[in-house]
Amino acid sequence: MKNEQKTISGFSKLSKRGKIKWIVQNFYKEPDKVMSELMSYWHSNEEQQKILDNFSENTISNFPMPFGVAPNFIIDDKPYCVPMVIEESSVVAAASAAAKFWMSRGGFKTEIISTKKLGQVSFVWKGDKAKLKYHFPEIKKVLIEECFSITRNMIKRGGGIMDIDLVDFTETEPHLYQLKATFETCDSMGANFINTCLEQFSTSLLKFFNASEHFTEEERKLEIIMSILSNYTPECLVRAWVECPIAELGKFPNGLSAEDFARKFHMAIRVAEIDPYRATTHNKGIFNGIDSVVIATGNDFRAIEACGHTYASRSGTYSSLSHCSIENGQFKFWLDLPLAVGTVGGLTSLHPIAKRSLELLEHPSAEELMRIIATTGLAQNFSALRSLVTTGIQQGHMKMHLQNILAQLKATKDEEVAAIEHFANEIVSFSAVKDYILGLRTT
Ligand code: MEV
Repeated sequence: MKNEQKTISGFSKLSKRGKIKWIVQNFYKEPDKVMSELMSYWHSNEEQQKILDNFSENTISNFPMPFGVAPNFIIDDKPYCVPMVIEESSVVAAASAAAKFWMSRGGFKTEIISTKKLGQVSFVWKGDKAKLKYHFPEIKKVLIEECFSITRNMIKRGGGIMDIDLVDFTETEPHLYQLKATFETCDSMGANFINTCLEQFSTSLLKFFNASEHFTEEERKLEIIMSILSNYTPECLVRAWVECPIAELGKFPNGLSAEDFARKFHMAIRVAEIDPYRATTHNKGIFNGIDSVVIATGNDFRAIEACGHTYASRSGTYSSLSHCSIENGQFKFWLDLPLAVGTVGGLTSLHPIAKRSLELLEHPSAEELMRIIATTGLAQNFSALRSLVTTGIQQGHMKMHLQNILAQLKATKDEEVAAIEHFANEIVSFSAVKDYILGLRTT
């Protein structure tokens, strides 16, 4: 295939059918088959498809992901059935198992530590630093006043601009300063609100300097570099935890006592607190739970991930997001996580399934959703560590793997029962299962 056939100008102007046609003809060996396969994932309802298409650009089809639920979560004494969108097997099962485990041990508890969000305007200014600092209270007042038409509604809902600080970066980069603004955005994630305010700050800042008699001709030349929210929101923080007397943890596989389980669990957390290699995998497991609820509720999982990993590095070394203590016979396991999420606006009210997820959670506020998401991350982490320090994770994974292979081989119910018994103590691989099933079929 010639390279020029693989590039095109005006692609975005083609109809959806036209786009698929061009793609299948130039990139696939069986164009007709691929075209009908891609089109088979179009929504049967044209209106619904239009909604999905409007979320992005150059859409040619939909990419389905499993939408599951984890029941039996008791969070702050309230029962929840948590919606989860994830393509990895065992994650929903692990969340459900942890929910059930803690249901009879007091459930999960949470606390909202703070809910502030941040935005920055970076600018270059070559004037007298002391003068800038001296006049900053006046500048701040102007910035807030001139933003009022944007903040009016948010203020009515209890939010708005909380503060604006001047950050001096000139020791590291000559003439570089920043406005660092804190916002309260109530039940919305607030990205649009914050960015609109920041762009207004830039306009107001330029206007102020242009017109101000405090500054010399030279000092009136201020250059805005950029205005954008920060996805690092360490002051939009939630804590989720579980605790119970060690004796109430119960019994574990391979005859492991509750005391030994607690001790090994605690040490597994210490490994993740000390070693970034383990911390990355440990936190990945936490984000298995976090992301799946974030996606199911129409929130931005890239923002949540970026923020969580920065938070995990706040000491200077990447470390565990969860922690454990064993004191006076009490086992406590907790997670602190910054989570800037919304339950109104954006995808939360446009995506048909995200709407259903929020309905399943009985229309939570943003704070309540923070509690639910953090809890799901903690539950996920509990199940992963419970497996790791007892049986290892492969036992559970292999069960799922075996089920998938049996489905691929179109095994009958009897073959399935026989295979599960046979592979209870055998290594599962596609060829081993295939040989076993073919063996059954020829006897
Ligand atoms: C797999 O997706 C997640 C785990 O690796 C997490 C962990 O090791 O803690 C099981």
